[in-house]
Amino acid sequence: MSTLKTSIGNFQFDTCVMNASGVHCYDQSELDGLRASSAGTFVTKSATLQPREGNPTPRYKPVPLGSINSMGLPNLGIDFYLDYLKSVEVGKSSPFLSVTGLSREETHTLLNKVQSSDYDGLVELNLSCPNIVGKPQLGYDIEGVKKLLTEVFAYFDQPLGVKLPPYFDLTHFDQMAEVLNQFPLTFVNTVNSIGNALYIEDETVAIKPKNGFGGLGGTYIKPTALANVHAFYQRLKPSIAIIGTGGVTSGRDVFEHILCGASLVQIGTALQEEGPAIFDRLQAELLEIMTEKGYKSLDDFRGKLQYL
Ligand code: DHB
Repeated sequence: MSTLKTSIGNFQFDTCVMNASGVHCYDQSELDGLRASSAGTFVTKSATLQPREGNPTPRYKPVPLGSINSMGLPNLGIDFYLDYLKSVEVGKSSPFLSVTGLSREETHTLLNKVQSSDYDGLVELNLSCPNIVGKPQLGYDIEGVKKLLTEVFAYFDQPLGVKLPPYFDLTHFDQMAEVLNQFPLTFVNTVNSIGNALYIEDETVAIKPKNGFGGLGGTYIKPTALANVHAFYQRLKPSIAIIGTGGVTSGRDVFEHILCGASLVQIGTALQEEGPAIFDRLQAELLEIMTEKGYKSLDDFRGKLQYL
């Protein structure tokens, strides 16, 4: 029997699939739903210091090849997510707490709050929210990321990773990896949605905020996601694990993310559309592929993408 066991830093997980932040992780009932599912672990909605209502609706729309969203960071605030994580029995599988500041100062306040809380598990710092009007995502400001991480690692000593936007140029992979390799990061999560896409039906945009501009997810973005996973797998030091996110709707997609180097694979749009039962299907499909190929564990093929 093959196993889907995996690990990130010192944390072990029974299986390699989980939600992507933003999907099914806003409040207690959604988070409880993930804990009751067969996902290996879960990540909370990116938290700001204060609760936020987010952008006007409709702000998420499923479209034939994926989804477009401009949620605008609706979340219950960092205290809610810290309290939730404190209250739940998480066993040996650490959850991930996602945080994102609307400014550098807010990011530091958030991380200081996390550090002085009872939560000592994995933290994902989201550098790639594309949906806040007037706030460019830090992930595209490589020097800004270096400065922020330098400041953060001066005091933060919990296991930390960053969620990155997709990059589209080999030079940017090189520059970003060079910066990330300077820090004791536990993981890098790649990719967030492709920012500021526009979907039109008849003559009208699909979502209300930002006159229809929003983050693109789902099948559209799988090749970009795989490219980013593999580009960082090739460039990052081995102590930085990779979480692969983007375009996963099948066990075959999970397989491809792992082949490109991912240790955990996150599901966004397809989880939103199918609900937490999707984790059963993805694992069954992945196990079938592994059985056909004679792979007993993810290590048998992780990162072993073949070239022509
Ligand atoms: C939102 C979207 C993102 O892609 C992200 O990383 C964080 C927040 C949002 O609009 O809520």
